[in-house]
Amino acid sequence: MLELKSISYAVREGDSELGILKDISLTIDDHKLVVFTGPNGGGKTTLAKIIMGLVKPTSGQILWNGQDITDLGITERARLGISYGFQQPPRFKGLTVRDLLTLASGDGKLSKDKCCQYLTKVGLCANDYLDREVDVSLSGGEVKRIEIATILARGSQLMIFDEPEAGIDLWSFARLTETFEQIHATGSATMIIISHQERIISLADEVIVVGDGTIRHRGSAADILPQILADTLGTCPVLTKGGDAQ
Ligand SMILES: Nc1ncnc2c1ncn2[C@@H]1O[C@H](COP(=O)(O)OP(=O)(O)OP(=O)(O)O)[C@@H](O)[C@H]1O
Ligand SMILES: [Mg+2]
Repeated sequence: MLELKSISYAVREGDSELGILKDISLTIDDHKLVVFTGPNGGGKTTLAKIIMGLVKPTSGQILWNGQDITDLGITERARLGISYGFQQPPRFKGLTVRDLLTLASGDGKLSKDKCCQYLTKVGLCANDYLDREVDVSLSGGEVKRIEIATILARGSQLMIFDEPEAGIDLWSFARLTETFEQIHATGSATMIIISHQERIISLADEVIVVGDGTIRHRGSAADILPQILADTLGTCPVLTKGGDAQ
């Protein structure tokens, strides 16, 4: 179980403090699929990085399976079973896709078959990619899918995906949503997925709308989706006028 207790994060801006996250508390039970959604700049990635240990909160506490992990670094949290896939994944010049999958799995002799299974889940063919370096020669969507495959290979207890749909074509996206559904159905991990996609939001046990550094709404997908759509219409003058502004 993951517990966030009164998490705040602020940065200095000149003489004043800018609040990025404001007193966020939430609990996520094991094996749940929770989607964080909400407007750009709302604080979703910052919250995910705070859970992973990439950003240190200004105040508040994070408990993982009852253990206070607030002061632990990213490596220690990874060892405790937490993994995070970046919104914009880094590249690793000199390392091949096979190297990354092998490192992630912790199995020094990861077979080609196993690699192939992970890559297929994100819509890539092992024959084409296993020996490719994860450098600038790969497209943005390919790097994104390879990173998601490494998270699957890691088999962590808590997997955090930051906009897994970003830059991914429709066919691979369908594959990916199936993979999330399978992980959820087998109860093999808890998942936090940051997403703007209705298809992913509809898979969630719980949807948490993060806006302006706070939790604006939380509830089931059936409850939250209509509210998100209503919010969207409310802020767009063209849509609210029914298109007569054209
Ligand atoms: N170190 C920092 N210094 C200044 N501002 C920051 C810092 N980190 C984050 N922010 C700001 O905090 C806000 C939240 O950023 P964050 O990346 O968490 O948003 P997000 O909800 O993930 O947005 P998106 O949907 O665009 O990915 C943004 O306005 C961002 O510019
Ligand atoms: Mg983000």
